[in-house]
Amino acid sequence: MAEPLTLALSKGRILEQTMPLLKPLGIEPLEDPATSRNLVLPTSDPNVRLIIVRATDVPTYVAYGGADLGVAGKDVLLEQGGHGLYEPVDLGIARCRLMVAGRPDADLEGRRIRVATKFVNVTRRHFAAQGRQVDLIKLYGSMELAPLVGLADAIVDLVDTGNTLRANGLAPLEPIADISARLVVNKGSMKLKHRAIKPMLGKIAESVDRNA
Ligand code: ADP
Ligand code: PRP
Ligand code: MG
Repeated sequence: MAEPLTLALSKGRILEQTMPLLKPLGIEPLEDPATSRNLVLPTSDPNVRLIIVRATDVPTYVAYGGADLGVAGKDVLLEQGGHGLYEPVDLGIARCRLMVAGRPDADLEGRRIRVATKFVNVTRRHFAAQGRQVDLIKLYGSMELAPLVGLADAIVDLVDTGNTLRANGLAPLEPIADISARLVVNKGSMKLKHRAIKPMLGKIAESVDRNA
């Protein structure tokens, strides 16, 4: 009897871009995850089930063993620290960049600035590495609004096409990190379910190479 595995995914781009990587392994959800209200989804592989969680909760589920594996953005892993997890495969999906952004004419030098972001830990580290102390304002979304209404001098957010920044009259100012989604694995599962997980990692890496 093969070992049952639980894989944590988040709705939206992670789910949409992970499915094609799993299909060659014979893992396809038996109901449409985009429309289903079920949070536990059986797949065409009787030993693999998906659970649907918030993107920022994936590392928590996997670290505590609520799932054996998961797919998490590197931004989330950098912000939360990635404790208790292995991060064996860069899936190369959900690519974007973490950036400092602000008004195109923003002068951020020579004074203490206010930075609004949901990535407070990454932001603190980024400016500390430059020897700068900044005042952090924690937000949970719509960061682009903050410089427009004078809440902050700059933001730290994810940028892909730059359309969201442009639409709000903002510009990218400094890159922080290139981001893509990573396969994460519970450390205990990696040992105890090695026989199931090891070949799966290999096959997913092959899917990623074919995708590249
Ligand atoms: P959330 O509801 O948390 O915003 P998303 O599906 O938008 O969920 O984001 C999940 C992950 O996808 C993020 O952690 C990040 O790694 C990546 N991501 C977010 N926005 C973009 C984007 N515009 N382009 C590409 N990847 C993105
Ligand atoms: C993400 C991110 C930015 C935007 C950047 O938002 O938070 O706002 O994408 O992408 P762009 O540079 O291509 O415009 P998302 O689309 O995930 O919406 P959300 O606010 O629901 O997270
Ligand atoms: Mg988003």
